[in-house]
Amino acid sequence: MSDSHLSSPTAQIVSPFMQEPELMLECIDLNKVYSEGPAEVQVLKDLNLRVYAGERIAIVGASGSGKTTLLNLLGGLDLPTSGDVMIAGMNLANLNEAQRGQMRNRNLGFVYQFHHLLGEFTALENVCMPLLIAGMDIAMSTKKGAAMLERVSLGHRMQHKPSELSGGERQRVAIARALVTEPRCVLLDEPTGNLDRQTAKDIHQLMKELNTQFATSFIVVTHDEEFARSLDRVLQLRNGQLEALSTKDKSPDEQ
Ligand SMILES: Nc1ncnc2c1ncn2[C@@H]1O[C@H](COP(=O)(O)OP(=O)(O)OP(=O)(O)O)[C@@H](O)[C@H]1O
Ligand SMILES: [Mg+2]
Repeated sequence: MSDSHLSSPTAQIVSPFMQEPELMLECIDLNKVYSEGPAEVQVLKDLNLRVYAGERIAIVGASGSGKTTLLNLLGGLDLPTSGDVMIAGMNLANLNEAQRGQMRNRNLGFVYQFHHLLGEFTALENVCMPLLIAGMDIAMSTKKGAAMLERVSLGHRMQHKPSELSGGERQRVAIARALVTEPRCVLLDEPTGNLDRQTAKDIHQLMKELNTQFATSFIVVTHDEEFARSLDRVLQLRNGQLEALSTKDKSPDEQ
């Protein structure tokens, strides 16, 4: 079963008197075939997905099932073999490299499976980078970057370079960098995979706070079943397609 006909929980409560929920991200018949190497590998096969503003989605699946491939396509970091990715109404295929970069900076936060911090910069400089790229001045960027590092409990490590941080600390810097611009949608690839239980819970809490505060959408690849179940939908990537494992209606106090 593909996800194409699955509507979000928010979509189900629409009446003629209510505003249509805003579609944040959409994939239409997405295919990805890797043709480098000895054999062609079709990783994604006619995959469809719709994510509405403020939705929190977990993506689970076996190693090699294509989770990172999918996030890279959603973030415009790689291009599909065929099919379309729409972000906030814009078709990524119609944007050039520079425009895709600008769209990412404006709308998306990205936490990579392997953090990808810039080694020659401090934790604070890494977190401030997307703000500076967006045109914010240094004083304001530094203030916001420092506040976000405090929120991931790294106020005491701001001047450390990535090589002077533990694996979990680096991951938290990467999370702070993705969240600092208050993006409309955040894509996270196993963000808490190498964090201890308490730190992972703190990060999950921070994500939920941002979701409530700014209606930020989250698409999270995770192996943490408890966390996955606490989100709005859990989708499993299998045989190149997404299947719904669970859909949770938000309780009134979560809306
Ligand atoms: N550049 C590439 N060229 C050829 N094959 C690739 C390339 N990148 C990924 N693959 C293959 O595509 C498949 C999906 O890879 P992907 O990294 O998306 O999996 P994943 O679900 O994120 O796995 P994991 O849970 O281990 O991170 C794998 O079989 C991988 O070997
Ligand atoms: Mg992966």
